[in-house]
Amino acid sequence: MSRIDYEQRIPNNVGLSDDRRLQRALEKWQPAFLDWWTDMGPEGFQARDVYLRTAVSAEPGGWAVFDYVKMPDYRWGIFLADQQEDRRIHFGDHIGEPVWQEVPGEYRNILRRIIVTQADTEPASVEQQRYLAATAPSLYDMRNLFQVNVEEGRHLWAMVYLLHKHFGRDGRDEAEELLARRAGDADKPRMLDAFNQECKDWMTFFCFTMFTDRDGKYQLASLAESGFDPLSRTCKFMLTEEAHHLAVGETGMQRIIERAAELAMEDPNGDARAQGGIDIPTIQKWVNYWFSYSIDLFGSEVSSNAADFFGAGIKGRYREDQYEEHTALDQFIHLPVVRDGRVVTEEVPLRNAMNEVLRSEYITDAERVVKRWNKALDKMGSPFRMSLPDRKFHRRQGIYAGAYFTPNGDPISEDQWEARRKDWLPTDEDREYVRSLMKPVYEPGKMANWIKAPSRGLNRQPLDFEYVRV
Ligand SMILES: [Fe+2]
Ligand SMILES: [Fe+2]
Repeated sequence: MSRIDYEQRIPNNVGLSDDRRLQRALEKWQPAFLDWWTDMGPEGFQARDVYLRTAVSAEPGGWAVFDYVKMPDYRWGIFLADQQEDRRIHFGDHIGEPVWQEVPGEYRNILRRIIVTQADTEPASVEQQRYLAATAPSLYDMRNLFQVNVEEGRHLWAMVYLLHKHFGRDGRDEAEELLARRAGDADKPRMLDAFNQECKDWMTFFCFTMFTDRDGKYQLASLAESGFDPLSRTCKFMLTEEAHHLAVGETGMQRIIERAAELAMEDPNGDARAQGGIDIPTIQKWVNYWFSYSIDLFGSEVSSNAADFFGAGIKGRYREDQYEEHTALDQFIHLPVVRDGRVVTEEVPLRNAMNEVLRSEYITDAERVVKRWNKALDKMGSPFRMSLPDRKFHRRQGIYAGAYFTPNGDPISEDQWEARRKDWLPTDEDREYVRSLMKPVYEPGKMANWIKAPSRGLNRQPLDFEYVRV
C-alpha cells in the first residue's frame, strides 16, 4: 500500500484509479493547480534543474530519491501513511470506538473548517516566498527554498484530496477557492494573519520556517491523532516532510547568528553591521516578530471550539499517548489573564484550554532550539545570547491581544509600548538594512557575507555541488 504509483497522472498510494469519479475530479483540479504554481510559485527559476527529493514510499525513513527536476515537473501527488488495523479513537467523548473512514455527519462542518484552514496555509507560504530566489545567499539555500515550496504545494494536494474525496460539491468548491485567495491580497487574503505577512528577505524566510512551519508541525501532529482516519494518515506523512522545513529554519537562523557573532568579534567596535553583516540585536527583533505571529496561530487561550474539537475526537493533544487520562474532563489549568490592566491567574477547564496546551508544547520545542543556538554562541566565545519573548508579548489573537507587554512579559502602558517597540520589533530602517544585504550568490559553494556556510552539504553532496543549475 505505501508504495507510490508514479505511472498515474496523479502519483498516489490511495488506489486512485479504482475511484474514477474522484480521479476525474482531481484531474480537473490538476491543471488549475499547475496554473497557480506557474503564476504564484517561485519566480524566475521554473525552467531550471533543481536537486530535489521526491517521496518514494510513505513509510517513515528512507522515503526519498534525490535528482534534478524542473519544478513544474515535480510529481505532486497524494500520499497517506499506511492504515493501521483496528485503530480506535483514543481521546474525547468517543474513546474506544473504531476510527471513522468517512466523515460523520455531525462533524462535517468542523472537519471541513479544520481542513480548509490547514490547506490555506500551504499555498500561502509559497506565495509569500515567491521572490526570494532572486536574492538567495547560496545555491544550497536556494535549493532548500524550492524544496520547501514544492512540498508546500504537495501539502495542498494532501488537503485537496480530503476535500474532494469526503466533502462532495462543497469540497470541490473549497479546493477552487484555495487557488483563488492570495497571501497579502487586500480583497482575497489568506485566512490567517501570519500567512499574509511579507517575506522579502531571507532572515524572514528562516524565521518563517523556524517558527511558522513549527506551528504547522504542532497542528499536523494534533490532527494526526484524529479519529477521522484519512486526516490522521494524511497528516502523519506531511509531518515527515515538515521536519525538513523546520531543519532549514533552525539551521538557517543558527548560521546567521553564528556569522553575526563572528563578525562582531572581528570588528574593532564589536559591530557586525560595520562588517557588512546582520547584528544580533536585529536578529532578535526578527525572532520576536515571527515567534509572536506564530504563537497567535494556535488560537485563543480559552476556546469552546478547541473543547469541541477535542471532545469530538477530531483534534488531540500533541502525542496524546504521553498523557494518562484522555477525556480531559473535570480537569483545569491555570492561565495568566489580563483583568483591569493587571495579570491574574485564573482556572480554566482543560478542554477549553487545548489551544494553550498545544501552544505550550510548541514553546518548549522552540526553547530547545534557542538553547542549541546559545550553546553554539557559547562555544564560539561570544557574549551574545538569543531568547524567545514571553508568550504575552506582541499578540494580536487571544486573551493578551489589546494589552501591552515587554519581551519579559511585564505589563506596560500603550505609551511605554510605543516608546520601546523599535527596540523589540523590526523597524522600517532595520528592514531596509537587511534587504540591502540581500544580494544573490549563485556560485557553487559560495555564501553571502551575512550567513555562515552550513556544516555539510545535502544528501552527502559536497557544499560546492550545483544544487540549482542557474
Ligand atoms: Fe505545509
Ligand atoms: Fe512546511
